[in-house]
This record gives sequence, structure tokens and C-alpha cells, in this order.
Amino acid sequence: MTSERECFVYIVLPGATQFVTAGRFRWRDQGSGGVGEFVYGRSYREREEAVELDPVELRLSGQVYETARMDGFFGAIRDSMPDFWGRRVIERNAGSAELAEFDYLMQSPDDRAGALGFGTGVEPPGPRRLFNRTLDLEALQRAADAIVDDDREGAGSAQGLAEDLLLLGTSMGGARPKAVVEDESGLWIAKFGRNDDRWNHPRIEHGMLALARACGLNVAESRIESLGGRDLLLVRRFDRHRTDAGYHRHRMASALTLLRAADSAAERRNWSYLAFADEIRRASANPEEDLRELFGRVCFNAAVSNLDDHPRNHAMLAGGRQWRLSPAFDLMPSPVVARERRDLAMTCGRFGRHANRANLLSGHGRFLLERNEAEAVFERITGTVRQRWRTETRRAGTSERDCEAIESAFLYDGLLYENTD
Ligand SMILES: Nc1ncnc2c1ncn2[C@@H]1O[C@H](COP(=O)(O)OP(=O)(O)OP(=O)(O)O)[C@@H](O)[C@H]1O
Ligand SMILES: [Mg+2]
Repeated sequence: MTSERECFVYIVLPGATQFVTAGRFRWRDQGSGGVGEFVYGRSYREREEAVELDPVELRLSGQVYETARMDGFFGAIRDSMPDFWGRRVIERNAGSAELAEFDYLMQSPDDRAGALGFGTGVEPPGPRRLFNRTLDLEALQRAADAIVDDDREGAGSAQGLAEDLLLLGTSMGGARPKAVVEDESGLWIAKFGRNDDRWNHPRIEHGMLALARACGLNVAESRIESLGGRDLLLVRRFDRHRTDAGYHRHRMASALTLLRAADSAAERRNWSYLAFADEIRRASANPEEDLRELFGRVCFNAAVSNLDDHPRNHAMLAGGRQWRLSPAFDLMPSPVVARERRDLAMTCGRFGRHANRANLLSGHGRFLLERNEAEAVFERITGTVRQRWRTETRRAGTSERDCEAIESAFLYDGLLYENTD
């Protein structure tokens, strides 16, 4: 069966607060996988302020772009779509798990990551200001709990709860329960704990963000809110900036898009910090600074065993015309059993994903660093992690018990081994 769907793609241009129409996206499914087609509108291209949707694929031109990869969804469009968590909420709301990929795109609200919007009208819809206020957090946590419980038990208890509130966060990616909330200072991602978490995720993530900051890295701002005995993490959205006239939006492109890779297991071999560094070198307005920062993050991930550092957990951001590496986010220690060898989720040196000193340093040139500069970054980051992980984790309000539970994540034995196999 062939089906064809179409929508307009809107964008908030740098310095503006309202959508303009950038182009048209058409998607065909011929039964064997989707094919996507995107074309910029002529009147958009004629605007002086017009910008490209992403730095690698959809360059600003009159060309008709076509892709059969990733089921026909261009990277820039996929980055604007919900991920595991958002899809669960949308399915729940629609009362069906049988949605087509295109439906997830159209059913997401207007709070998606980055500067794009989608709709069926050639003219973008007027602004809607429908964000959750931080006051609603308790209701949001209850709704998130109900969905998580339902997934575990297959019951129907989530129906009728405050899911409509949760819908206002679904287009942000990621697997963990979350929502988007607004306060006087702007927009935040609220990340909830799950009842089945083995430790206090919100506080530990808060502590990891603080530790990364103590290591001199550029990190998303965060704070903890406690409601009815439960903690949740608020991470300030770095792709939105509040002004009197409304929100400025920054374009965002994930490392997955920069790598032209998919999420599938088969494409994991293309997940690579070295290849991401090459893309940053081409796309960034300041490659030296961004690559030094990225190398620092790789060392940090190895030092705290943040082993879920997949390419959706890295992004480039453009507030104006120019692209830069985004602040770091989603940092979590994994206290796995292995003490000898741990692997990051992405290739991080000439010898693969091996999270140890010898492998990390082997790729120094791809980050535009001399060997001794790379060594200095590694020593500085691991030194700070050694000195500060406990203090920062405790300062985030983590219990002594939780600290013990994650202790083995920090500076595991094999980190300093000289072997590379
Ligand atoms: N501070 C931020 N500002 C803007 N966008 C963000 C921010 N933090 C995260 N994002 C976007 O939201 C997505 C989900 O966030 P995050 O990675 O923290 O969630 P998660 O559910 O823990 O993810 P995972 O599935 O990797 O565990 C990210 O992939 C990124 O696109
Ligand atoms: Mg993530």
C-alpha cells in the first residue's frame, strides 16, 4: 500500500519569535520503507535572514532533497520528533500504539527541541503559549508515574490522568519521563524519577552536571525541585531564550544528524566522537574551542563511566547564523561490574570505544590537540573527578547510600591501563 503525507516546515529565524514558512516536507511509504522529500520555499530562500535547517544535509538551495534513509526522515526533522518517552505519551493519548511515523511528527506540540515547527497550513499558526507552569509539577509527576506503572504492569491506570499536561513535553527526545515547564525565567525540562529507579536519579544527574562544571566544562544549568517527598531535576533549555516579545529559538542538530547516522543497532559502528569531531571542524564557528571542549567531555564520560553517551546526547546549536557545540547534558554514571574494561557508546579513539587513557589520547589530532595538550586535558578532568565527585554528589543532596551505590562508576581500574585492545 502506498501512502503519501505532506506538511509545511516552519522556522523561527535568529532574533525572531514567530514562525515563518521555510519549506515543504513530503513523505511516501511504498510498503518497503519511507522516502522523504524536502524543498525550501522560494520566498524563504529570498529572505536575507534565511538560514539552513541543519549544517550538513539540507543546505540552503533550490534543490529538491530526497532521502530513503531513516525511513525517509531527514536528520533535522528527526531531531524535532519525539523519542521513546514522548511516543509513549502520544500513543496513550491517541489510545493506539499503531501510529505512523508521520503522526508522531504532526501530533507533537510546539515545544520541540530546536527552532522548527510543522503543520498543514502554508502559513504557520499563530503563537500559542501553553506551557506548564512549575506549579503543575506534582500533577505531572503523578501522570508520569502512572504511565511508567502501566508499562510495567500493563494496567490501564494512566487513562484520564493529567496526560494532557504531559503532552506538552513529548516532542523532547529521550527515554526517561519528562515534561517541559515554564517559570518567570524561561523554559526548563523537568526530568522525573521513576518508582523503580535504584537510586535518586534527579539528584545524581544534578550532581554530575555540577561535577562536569567543576571540571571546567560548559554544562546546561540545572536545579532540584522537591514535591511531596519526590525530587525532580529541572534543566534549563538552552535552545530557548525568553525575551519580552516571546521566545527566541536556537536551531539544534544532534550528533546523530551530524554523523548522518541512525539509531539502529546496525548503524552503531558509525557512532564516533572522531567522526563527530571532523563534522564540528567543518560546521563550527570556533572548531578549536569546541573540539577541546568535546575532548574534555569524552574524558569526563570515561572518568565517571557515563556509558550511555550516544549521539543524541550531543548536539550543535545555532542562536544566530553560526553553529557551536551545545552545552553538555544527560550525564549519568553507570556503576557496571567490569573493573578492567569499559566502553563508551561511541568510538573514542583509534582503538574503538574503549574508555581508557591510551585509547582516548590516541585520537588527539582529530580534536586539533597536540598529544601533550590532550594529556593535560585528561589529567585535569580525571584529577578533578577524583577530588570532587563525592563532594559534588553530596552537595546535590544525594544520600550516603546512593553515593556508595554509584561509587564504582568513578575512575574504574582500567581507565589508566595502557593497553588499547
Ligand atoms: N537543556 C536542554 N536544552 C535543550 N534541549 C535539551 C536539553 N537537555 C536535553 N535536551 C534535548 O532533549 C533530549 C532528551 O533529554 P535527555 O537526554 O536529558 O533525556 P533522557 O531521557 O535522559 O535521554 P536518554 O534516552 O538518552 O536517557 C536530548 O536528546 C536533547 O535533544
Ligand atoms: Mg538523552
